[in-house]
Amino acid sequence: MSKPRVLVACAVFPQVLQRLREHFEVEAIAEGETWRQDEFTRRLAGREGAFITGTHRIDAAVLASNPQLRIVANMAVGYNNLDVAAMRSAGVVGTNTPDVLTETTADFGFALVMAAARRMLEAEKFLRAGLWKRWRYDMFAGSEVHGSTLGILGMGRIGRGIARRGAYGFGMKVIYHNRHRLDADVEEACGARFVGMQELLAESDHLVLVLPYTSEAHHIIGAAELARMKPTATIVNIGRGGLIDENALVLALEAGRLAAAGLDVFEGEPRVNPALLTLPNVVLTPHIASATVLTRLAMADLAADNLIAFFDGRGALTPVT
Ligand code: GLV
Repeated sequence: MSKPRVLVACAVFPQVLQRLREHFEVEAIAEGETWRQDEFTRRLAGREGAFITGTHRIDAAVLASNPQLRIVANMAVGYNNLDVAAMRSAGVVGTNTPDVLTETTADFGFALVMAAARRMLEAEKFLRAGLWKRWRYDMFAGSEVHGSTLGILGMGRIGRGIARRGAYGFGMKVIYHNRHRLDADVEEACGARFVGMQELLAESDHLVLVLPYTSEAHHIIGAAELARMKPTATIVNIGRGGLIDENALVLALEAGRLAAAGLDVFEGEPRVNPALLTLPNVVLTPHIASATVLTRLAMADLAADNLIAFFDGRGALTPVT
């Protein structure tokens, strides 16, 4: 019997690719290559399955030109690149990689809070540039992390992990806002209190964005929201770039209306708003919040397992709805 045909549109660990090849007839992107969306759509022709990351979209146009497609495994927990409604009506299953990256991503969110608040990258660049001549009481003096107020917008698994780190590791007062308030026992387990959006903005010393990106969440943080924040506050985004109006953020940081930012995701990435690159008080990382070797391997394995289980007739393990 012929094997199902699967397109692997992103670089992946060799051992995972090997496993995919045991089950499927695989066409995989070559090392160092990138496929633009039109190229990706073209290469999907004749493929029943796809292994992708957030770089490629599965939308009505892709589905219309690939009626043979049956499943798309997204190697990411976020799936704003999948048009789930269009996939449902085309009978195509989508899967993501929840759980396996929760704690690693929460670690990184917390690392960005620390790095931005304590000005670690500015200080590091200064030292490497040979500018450190003497000690000064105010040299790279940042803001407190322990004991301060941590705000979390989006209280899913990762948000809750960040909350626990703040509440129980750093003695922070943790407040959160979410579409739905969590049950009291869950709130207690992560040491967090539900507040309205305005209170979240006004009270947070460090605000972390970790909500899913949807059309309603587009620019959920814009000029008006930034203006509600304390001028001493930091903001961290590990969700998706489109959650923040980057131009408004740049203006706020330039004007000293916000102390610092830590950004792992960008609108239009891998392109980065050039104005952000010039600001000293922003820590910028290239979408690596889940990037530890073990976690990325677990994500890749889960994406592969989804394809294998689906084509074995067991059904996808982590379908998105
Ligand atoms: C990364 O951004 C993910 O959604 O897993």
